[in-house]
Amino acid sequence: MPLPLDQILVGDCLKSLRQLPDASVDVCFADPPFNLKKRYGKHDDAMALEEYLAWCEQWILELVRVTKPTGSIFLHNIPKWLTYYAAILNRSTHFRHWIAWDAMSTPLGKTLMPAHYGILFYTKAAKGYKFNEIRAPHKRCRLCNGFLKDYGGKKDMMHAFGQLVSDAWTDIHRIKHNKRRDEHPCQLPIHLLERVILMSTDPGDVVLDPFLGTGTTAIAAKQLGRHYIGLELDENYARIAEQKLARTGPSRHEGFFVSLYLGKLQTIREVDAKQLFPPQLTKQQKRAKKEAPRPEEPELIDVPRQRRPRRRVSASAAPAGKP
Ligand SMILES: C[S@@+](CC[C@H](N)C(=O)[O-])C[C@H]1O[C@@H](n2cnc3c(N)ncnc32)[C@H](O)[C@@H]1O
Repeated sequence: MPLPLDQILVGDCLKSLRQLPDASVDVCFADPPFNLKKRYGKHDDAMALEEYLAWCEQWILELVRVTKPTGSIFLHNIPKWLTYYAAILNRSTHFRHWIAWDAMSTPLGKTLMPAHYGILFYTKAAKGYKFNEIRAPHKRCRLCNGFLKDYGGKKDMMHAFGQLVSDAWTDIHRIKHNKRRDEHPCQLPIHLLERVILMSTDPGDVVLDPFLGTGTTAIAAKQLGRHYIGLELDENYARIAEQKLARTGPSRHEGFFVSLYLGKLQTIREVDAKQLFPPQLTKQQKRAKKEAPRPEEPELIDVPRQRRPRRRVSASAAPAGKP
C-alpha cells in the first residue's frame, strides 16, 4: 500500500496499521482511549484490564514497526497505563524522556490527585535519531508580569525570546471552554502537538496518529508543513477533523514554522530562534564579562553638605494639566 499521506483512514487502527510498510513514518504520536469509561461515539472505553493491555501491546508494536530508524514514538496517557507501555517499549526501543504535562486542572478533591498526564518519548534507534532543541517564552507571573524564575543579577544573560523547554510542561492549558472544543470527550490542545512535532521532525516529514479523534495531530502537522496520516474508528470524529483541516493553513513567523497561541509565539526550534534573536552569551563570554575589571570608581571627596536654596517656580512655568 502506498503511504496514505495527508489522509484520514476511518476504521480500526490495527487493521490500517498492518497495511503500512515497515520504517515508513518519522514520528508516531498516540493518544489512545484511557479505559476510563469515557463516552466515545464508537469505542467501548471499559475493557477488562488484561484485554486493554493486550490490545495496547498490539498497536504499540505496530507503531514501532512503521517508525523509521531515525524516528520517535510518543505515547500520551495517565501514568498508570504508561508504566505498562514503557515495559513494552523498553524491549525494542530507547527511552528518552517522560514528559510531564501539567494540564492545569483544578486542584480539588484529594491529596496526590493526578495533576499531570505523561508523554513517553522513545526513539527507534539509540543514536542518529532526529531531535531539535526547542524554546518557549520565559515564564511570567500572571498578575505582575515579572519573571517567575529568579535570574538574580544575570538578567542580561537571558535569552531574548525564552528558555529551552524542560521535561515538565506547565505552560500549555487543556481546552477548557466548550466553544473551543469539538463534540469529543478528550480533545488535546493543538500547541501541545506542535511542540512534539517541532521537537522531533523537519518540514516535509510524516507524522502518524492512530487515534486521531477530531484531528489535533493532523492540524498541528499541516500547520507546521509536515505530512500526516490519521487513523480513527469513528466516522463522525473523522468528518469533523476533515472539516477543520480544510480551513487549516501554515503557522509561520518570519518565514519559520512555529507554534503560535492566541497570536503569540509559543514554541520555536532553536535552529530557527538563532536566526531571529540575538544569541545568549557563551560560557566563555559570560566568564569574560564576570572577570572584566570594573570601571574605576571616582575618588570620593568629603564635601560638607550645603543647604540648597529653594527654587522658586513661577505660575507660568508650572507643567500644564497638573492639579
Ligand atoms: C483519547 S481520544 C484521541 C483524541 C485526539 N488526540 C484529539 O485531540 O482529538 C481516542 C480516540 O481513539 C479513537 N479510537 C478508539 N478505538 C480505536 C481504534 N480501534 N482504532 C482507531 N481509533 C480508535 C476514539 O474514537 C477516540 O476518538
